[in-house]
Amino acid sequence: MNEPRALIVDDDADFRMSLELLVRRERFVTRAAGSLEEARKELGSGAFDVILVDLGLPDGDGLALLHEQREADPGTEVIVITGSTSVDAAISALRAGALDYLCKPIDLARLSTALLNVARTKELKAQVGTLRGELRRLGRFGALVGRSKAMLDVYDLIARVAPTDATVLITGESGTGKELVAQTIHALSARRAEVLLPVNCGAVSPTLIESELFGHERGSFTGADKQRKGYFERANGGTLFLDEVSEMSLDLQVKLLRVLETGTLVRVGGAEPMGVDVRVVAATNRDPEEAVKAGLLREDLYYRLNVFPIHLSPLRERPEDVELLADRFLGQLNRGVESPKRWSRAAVQRLRQNPWPGNVRELKNVVQRAFILGDEEIDAEALPLASAVATTPGEPSSIRIEVGTKISDAECALILATLETCEGDKRKAAETLGISLKTLYSRLNVYAAKGLPTKQRDAPAPSDSDRSSGTD
Ligand SMILES: Nc1ncnc2c1ncn2[C@@H]1O[C@H](COP(=O)(O)OP(=O)(O)OP(=O)(O)O)[C@@H](O)[C@H]1O
Ligand SMILES: [Mg+2]
Repeated sequence: MNEPRALIVDDDADFRMSLELLVRRERFVTRAAGSLEEARKELGSGAFDVILVDLGLPDGDGLALLHEQREADPGTEVIVITGSTSVDAAISALRAGALDYLCKPIDLARLSTALLNVARTKELKAQVGTLRGELRRLGRFGALVGRSKAMLDVYDLIARVAPTDATVLITGESGTGKELVAQTIHALSARRAEVLLPVNCGAVSPTLIESELFGHERGSFTGADKQRKGYFERANGGTLFLDEVSEMSLDLQVKLLRVLETGTLVRVGGAEPMGVDVRVVAATNRDPEEAVKAGLLREDLYYRLNVFPIHLSPLRERPEDVELLADRFLGQLNRGVESPKRWSRAAVQRLRQNPWPGNVRELKNVVQRAFILGDEEIDAEALPLASAVATTPGEPSSIRIEVGTKISDAECALILATLETCEGDKRKAAETLGISLKTLYSRLNVYAAKGLPTKQRDAPAPSDSDRSSGTD
């Protein structure tokens, strides 16, 4: 069997030699170069599976090689090497299509994972290629449906970042598909055989979340009668999806940052740090910069999470996806039924015109209701769109928000007022607001922690299996 070939480019001869030894131990044949010019010569004389290139070379930026290689031979992966102080540069490299980045001094485990990914990436790229074909034919990328420019860009970002171990921050309004994107990233990563563990940081009680995330030792607090592994340990080798990350307390954000930076954690009540190999994908439906300004999200954690941002546009900004999504959801419901249903022209028209404050989740719920209510040809009347946004009839209510109010305060006022109009019915309030029940819960937790009156009628708290809204 042909051994894979690696080219190592670094101007520091000692470093280059020791890296060559390490890479050979991973069963690569190696060549080395001390400058861009030497590297180009090597590249001219043979094909490589991977180039490990230092970003700061005497005759230019290592990134130049990345750009040239993407043109010349897209089959060659590039892993960039940087001093630990220039992580920003590494991030631009990832955005430009590098497979991964390594900081000096080289961590052996990271190097070995990165090289393992070179082989796996070939396979994954083939798979991404298949998905691209599917995309052209059917307008979908795995489980993700949509053909708008915004979604095509998202697929591109997913395809690029999935095979790396880079942290991803997914932003977008409630119901835009953040969790689905996280699942797709995991499914297209080398970790896909391992677990993808979702944690809703907003729904876990603030007193328990530290031990939920990092685990605890026996006797570390009242009630801790056994040692327990936290989410990080349980996700070892896989991906941890930190949903609603900005709902975490600021103290805990510091601890999370430390785990992300060191790759080690200490259980609550424990003394010894232990290593964990976890890829973190985080999500928030707040604007992260606003959340930083409002003091809800630590700036340092934001930068650490924001290595690779993916933003999902609200559905109203990509109306061309509405019909495709509605067809997909209807198709799923039609599966196995005797007389499948279809949209009438008027229904399609109506779907396209709706503003979709609850985004794809709302659309999915509306399709489900229409499927139940509608005839074989589903008419516009079967689309209970107006009711999804209206409050109780005869009770027109409004709140006044001064210009200059913080978004987070305006949001709080709107949520509390809506809850009141819905007489404390959270399911109804969430639906009216176009957010998921669990998002509503996490906001209310925050308000309760601030001592705001949150008039509520008891509704069952969403369990893990009811992570999204009612009919999701
Ligand atoms: N592009 C898409 N294609 C197909 N289904 C989608 C798409 N986007 C979202 N969905 C579906 O819409 C629902 C909501 O998506 P998801 O739970 O991922 O949203 P979210 O952004 O995580 O929302 P929240 O912020 O409320 O947690 C899910 O059932 C999901 O499968
Ligand atoms: Mg979600």
